[in-house]
Amino acid sequence: MSFTIIDQATARLNRSELAVPGSNLKFLEKAASGPADVVFLDLEDAVAPSDKEQARKNIIGALNDLDWSGKAVSVRINGLDTHYMYRDVVDVIEQAGANLDMIMIPKVGTAADVYALDMMVTQIEDAMGLKKKIGFELIIETALGMANVHEIAAASPRNESLHFGVADYAASTKARTTNIGGPNADYGVLTDAPEGDEGGARDYHWGDMWHYAIARMVVAARANGLRPVDGPFGDIGDIDGYSAQAMRAAVLGCEGKWAIHPTQIDKANELFSPSEAEITKAKRIIEAMEQAQKEGKGAVTLDGRLIDIASIKQAEVVVKKAEIVASK
Ligand code: GLV
Ligand code: MG
Repeated sequence: MSFTIIDQATARLNRSELAVPGSNLKFLEKAASGPADVVFLDLEDAVAPSDKEQARKNIIGALNDLDWSGKAVSVRINGLDTHYMYRDVVDVIEQAGANLDMIMIPKVGTAADVYALDMMVTQIEDAMGLKKKIGFELIIETALGMANVHEIAAASPRNESLHFGVADYAASTKARTTNIGGPNADYGVLTDAPEGDEGGARDYHWGDMWHYAIARMVVAARANGLRPVDGPFGDIGDIDGYSAQAMRAAVLGCEGKWAIHPTQIDKANELFSPSEAEITKAKRIIEAMEQAQKEGKGAVTLDGRLIDIASIKQAEVVVKKAEIVASK
């Protein structure tokens, strides 16, 4: 272990993160009683400029009047390059800060963006006498943000999570996409023909064009004790496509994925929870390693595979996650 100990952000379940436009009162109400672990009330891209002011009022009302217990609630403010942003922060925190867990900052480009927001939020919290510190969710969705992701992740003790905003990221990097957050059939490799069969069949394997971005964000998040969360999947009718993208994000270490429609929430909750088989296996690993340590061994085999002290840590992560899920 390094001598540097990583402080972990406030522990929260973040398997599903539901996006709700602040302009839609009915959706706000439904979100409060729904099964998402985290809900973000949107003032940014899901709200037209002419609706921004009304959406702000709706969100303040929703935070104060609806029952958000059993989940965390966040507000996505407008970007730092817009004049909406300061009023989003001031009005929402002054009028409903006590009922808010986090704010979500879109299109973060540099550590200074986070620093500026930290200063504003600190002043408003102090002025209002708010006891609970508001956390930050940061969307990494531009080439600049991805280039600076490590400094951004370390920029404030309020930081809780990094989110991969694949739609804006594609626009910023000029990537070629078809469906928001989905794969692109043009990103793949063609295998060679079989040895000794020049004209033989060649296979085409699709690749995951988002692999680098997600993996880079996961490293920056975990190195700073933050939750990495995968962003939206646009084809709401394709639950199998959503599940595949969620699962590969889970495999890379993400804690959860956005849901841009309520039908995606249960899938995210299911796929980012450890399965019964994983929990059973993790408990067996812990038992086998306890026995190994009693016998003075650092490594043993379980079901024909090597396990060692690193396996205990992985198994403990699974068991702990399962306990948190069970307690929800
Ligand atoms: C989310 O904000 C995205 O741009 O994907
Ligand atoms: Mg975006």
